Amino acid sequence: MRHGEFEDPVLVTVYDAECRWAADDDFFVEAVGTAPVRVLDLGCGTGRLTIALAGRGHRVTGVDPAAASLAAARAKPGAAAVTWIQGTAADAPPASFDVALMTSHVAQYLVGDDEWRTALSALRRAVVPGGRLVFDTRDPAFRSWTTWSPVESRHAVPLPDGGDVLVWSEATETEPGVVEVTRHYEFPDRARSSSATMRFRTEAELRASLAETGWAVDFVFGGWQRQPAGTGDGEFVVGAHAV
Ligand SMILES: C[S@@+](CC[C@H](N)C(=O)[O-])C[C@H]1O[C@@H](n2cnc3c(N)ncnc32)[C@H](O)[C@@H]1O
Repeated sequence: MRHGEFEDPVLVTVYDAECRWAADDDFFVEAVGTAPVRVLDLGCGTGRLTIALAGRGHRVTGVDPAAASLAAARAKPGAAAVTWIQGTAADAPPASFDVALMTSHVAQYLVGDDEWRTALSALRRAVVPGGRLVFDTRDPAFRSWTTWSPVESRHAVPLPDGGDVLVWSEATETEPGVVEVTRHYEFPDRARSSSATMRFRTEAELRASLAETGWAVDFVFGGWQRQPAGTGDGEFVVGAHAV
């Protein structure tokens, strides 16, 4: 199933069990700041960070196209404090936010150049003058998809019901910066899979697309400890403000 890990309720449970609070969440919390602001979390998924930000006093809207992920988010404690929208960047209300986020590599699911620029433009419209954008995307130079192989990526994910599922991936770069990924899930009684196309943009591509869509870049770090780009965690951690 395409995007099954976000769209299939069973695989969403696996996503949620696997993707726990980590250094990236700490980074985004710090980037949003302590003063209460209006936050747009585009591609909020199952709402781990979205709900935590609302719990810290921010007025938070989570937007995601995946109904099953949003259902999981809405069922969590604290979810009532968040405004949830099923949709994409185009569905974000205009001039309504101080900060827009895309976390855990949402940017990489916006594959085509048009799709990416359309989303950046919509986010630009969604923020107020001077509003900020913070997101992460993997640095293609690290070629992290080469480790998403059946043997290297194979691991067990403990599930809330006490069982566990074996998860492994395969990935192929079909053209420069475009990677087809399939995740396989082996439950005790059945198997499922989820496929997606992911885009790996260079720093130059990120900077050019941001400049074209009304964003001025404030930082491009290489990891969650604010390392220089090209070093660190194999990430580009990007901050920009609306111009
Ligand atoms: C890896 S998950 C990240 C979820 C969440 N931000 C987190 O930190 O756990 C990627 C999310 O991007 C969402 N997504 C995929 N295509 C999207 C699009 N065109 N616009 C917005 N979100 C999208 C998926 O539904 C999924 O929830």
